[in-house]
Amino acid sequence: MELPFAESWKIKMVEPIRKSTREEREQWIKEANYNVFQLKADQVYIDGLTDSGTGAMSDRQWAALMMGDESYAGARSFYELKDTITRITGFEYLIPTHQGRAAENVLFSALVTEGAIVPGNSHFDTTKGHIESRKAVALDCTVDEAKNTQLEVPFKGNVDPKKLEKALAEHADKIPFIIVTITNNTAGGQPVSMQNLREVRALADKYNKRVLFDSARFAENAYFIKTREEGYADKTIKEICREMFALADAMTMSAKKDGLVNMGGFIATRWEDWYEAAKKFCIPFEGYLTYGGMNGRDMAALAVGLDENTEFDNLHTRIHQVQYLASLLDEYGIPYQRPVGGHAIFVDASKVLTQIPKEEFPAQTLTIELYKEAGIRGCEIGYILADRDPITRENRFGGNDFVRICVARRVYTDNHMKVIAAALKNVYDRRNEITRGVEIVWEAPLMRHFTVKLRPLK
Ligand code: F0G
Repeated sequence: MELPFAESWKIKMVEPIRKSTREEREQWIKEANYNVFQLKADQVYIDGLTDSGTGAMSDRQWAALMMGDESYAGARSFYELKDTITRITGFEYLIPTHQGRAAENVLFSALVTEGAIVPGNSHFDTTKGHIESRKAVALDCTVDEAKNTQLEVPFKGNVDPKKLEKALAEHADKIPFIIVTITNNTAGGQPVSMQNLREVRALADKYNKRVLFDSARFAENAYFIKTREEGYADKTIKEICREMFALADAMTMSAKKDGLVNMGGFIATRWEDWYEAAKKFCIPFEGYLTYGGMNGRDMAALAVGLDENTEFDNLHTRIHQVQYLASLLDEYGIPYQRPVGGHAIFVDASKVLTQIPKEEFPAQTLTIELYKEAGIRGCEIGYILADRDPITRENRFGGNDFVRICVARRVYTDNHMKVIAAALKNVYDRRNEITRGVEIVWEAPLMRHFTVKLRPLK
């Protein structure tokens, strides 16, 4: 008999979690202004808000913490991290930052000016925020397939080369660089193929532009290349990573995802001029160049995390769990962005709460219902998160309206996945009784989803 799949680790430490009653949750979500970011974590049973900084470190990472060098300048932990990053990516220059958005802030301060256009594949909200706050434009060139959630294509995160070429041909002088997000979070944690990365490189070379990878989930992207793209089955994840990064000029990294740490980020590049330009902003915003925004011990844990997460078994364990959750949703007929991506399920709220108009935010409504049902916290990646158009100030209703339920790395078991799926099924089964959505009572001018205050409509 073939042996079944099992995790590539065993558990050394546990953290108790607590269930609550529906009455408690109804009160708590009301006090949170119907915004799950405003809940206390203790009011949550299973937390799928994000896979960012929520993973469990290994015993080796915890051991590395003890070896961290906290020297202000020239820390050994910095050099160890730099060597690891150079080995995995080929990039020689490193600037550590306190998280991914800080890497964006430092690098974009040097590269993005008013009137610039930055084409890419579904820029993440902080990336878009850092571009738009500089009065520049984040131009989405994702393949159209990404919008059709029921279409099964292997690399739905890809850049559409035609859209990119059009942007380059029309605005070459305004484009400081091209950004490719691997995996494409906003489109559903969808991977980008090596072939597509090659096409982007060729276009960049044709127009003499550089390519930046937003690399938060680069290892998961490499896993999908290995398991889905022809010619990569026999390559190791580390070999695939080297090949991916050889097609880029630089990376910004949120180490809170594929770095397997709870906080941290960095910029890495092969170009001395970008490094020199970014350096000027690292010191005032983040800190001295050999720690940026990180402790020595955090750099030490990150170096180990990057190595662990570029091993197949670790990635396979993780993606297998996400795919298991997806298989349960398939059983219950719940529509989500297909095929499931690397870090989360993106439930297609527009196909669940069909009677709720866009103006009443279906995905946010479904997020609230799921929390009330079982204390499960997902988050809206939809019309609230899309913010308003910076010029017209109209709500942006052009994209998908998802409820994202993230799977933290090495944290929950498959039994927790069963609970998430059953809770979703219960809400799904009574979807026709949910006829009204929510309205905004207060919102911030940028990145409103974190602090928005909502009211249920009756
Ligand atoms: N880029 C991508 C693709 C991301 O998903 C994130 C964060 C960032 C950049 C910013 O990194 O949080 O370290 O500052 N995504 C988290 C999420 C917050 O929940 O998807 P950060």
